[in-house]
Amino acid sequence: MSRQPTPLFPPSFVWGTATSAYQIEGAVAEGGRGPSIWDEFCDRPAMIAGGETGRVAADHYHRWPADVDLMARLGLDSYRLSLSWSRILPTGSGPVNPEGVDFYERLLDRLCAVGISPAVTLFHWDLPSALQDQGGWMNRDTAYRLGEYAQVVGERLGDRVGMWMPINEPVVHTLYGYALGVHAPGLALGFEAFQAAHHQLLGHGLAVQALRSAGCDNIGIASNHAPVHAASDSPADVLAADVYDHVVNWMFADPILLGKYPAEELAQLVSGPLDADLKIISTPLDWYGINYYEPTVIAAPVEGQGTAGVLEVDLPPGLPFAPVPMTGYPTTDFGWPVVPEALGEILRTFKTRFGAALPPIYITESGSSWHDLPDEFGEFVDRARIDYHDAHLRAVRSAMDDGVDVRGYFVWSLLDNFEWAAGYKERFGLVHVDFQTQERTPKASFEWYRALIAKHRAARV
Ligand code: FCB
Repeated sequence: MSRQPTPLFPPSFVWGTATSAYQIEGAVAEGGRGPSIWDEFCDRPAMIAGGETGRVAADHYHRWPADVDLMARLGLDSYRLSLSWSRILPTGSGPVNPEGVDFYERLLDRLCAVGISPAVTLFHWDLPSALQDQGGWMNRDTAYRLGEYAQVVGERLGDRVGMWMPINEPVVHTLYGYALGVHAPGLALGFEAFQAAHHQLLGHGLAVQALRSAGCDNIGIASNHAPVHAASDSPADVLAADVYDHVVNWMFADPILLGKYPAEELAQLVSGPLDADLKIISTPLDWYGINYYEPTVIAAPVEGQGTAGVLEVDLPPGLPFAPVPMTGYPTTDFGWPVVPEALGEILRTFKTRFGAALPPIYITESGSSWHDLPDEFGEFVDRARIDYHDAHLRAVRSAMDDGVDVRGYFVWSLLDNFEWAAGYKERFGLVHVDFQTQERTPKASFEWYRALIAKHRAARV
């Protein structure tokens, strides 16, 4: 890959990193935090690689001052974090836990003091267990609980938050958590899971309205999107890819940006007062956040056969599509294909599909896992991670040159962390974490990103 300097972005372009509460905080039973579905899921045998859990994770709950120092050294404009819902509202609703609010107040205050604007996600998959006990996102009431939680947080923390995202990747939470059962809450409901998607989207809309009524602005979403390619030109493969594209991309973006589901067949998978709900779901946003990792190749299903492993999960037989491995591209150590131009492609597709209905875009996550090892000097020279971000930033820049309005890029992730069902083996961080000692070691990619940000900061003057 190229060793030319990464191209320059406009002076106002926002440089960030992203994390989420359950993946870094640890301290699951401290400070009055109530249990979340991920605590319970990790306790189930064989759900997480190596039997690992997020109980300690990167111990950020105790080490946050040093972590903010690292972010200041990096020179970030913005730090995307998520709040642990059950730290603030231990049972998901009802009385506020003052210790939980204090924790985030101290963290946000320190970020602001060092000139880093907090970008806050309210729900990054760690639903309070008490809400799951009542059905979780299959229960419409959960959407209203998210709205109330947004109101509480907006009132208490709003003056320090620069950007808001009520929810993270509803598609992944729906498919992995409710359809396939490989993420918390571990339900395998198949297509019935779309009810949980609808309620997350409704919760998103209610939370947007609650945040606005609490005086907050600059509100968006962090939603996972990527191109879907057909395995061949055969009509069966093209149709299967189109169905999959609707299920994973447009089922989630269209309701928010266009106020409708992308196809009647998909709308029929959900119930509720749809017209009224879609009005709430499509409450206007200030921006739209895309989390991008990898494109998917889809073929027509072979009768009676499931699909083993391509999306790190086995899909049951009977689906109208079959993901197949993407060939011809390098893969990360997690096995994900590295296809930077697909990031440019999805950005252009958004512009074409949504036109004037599309607000400015942020890349709210982009990153890659490499099983970094120290060299003889104890340094992590993660050239592959640098090349990954460099190439993906080039793809963003080229989409911007084609008229897509992209305003910022958040690296996933600041720190190595608990990668959900994959445990601690997968490392996405610019900073290496030794999970035995909790020692932090900035990798070469940290220095690369620091220099890139510094160059842009200098151009701002
Ligand atoms: C995204 C999640 C994030 C992280 C990255 C690798 O799907 O939002 O928490 O796990 O993948």
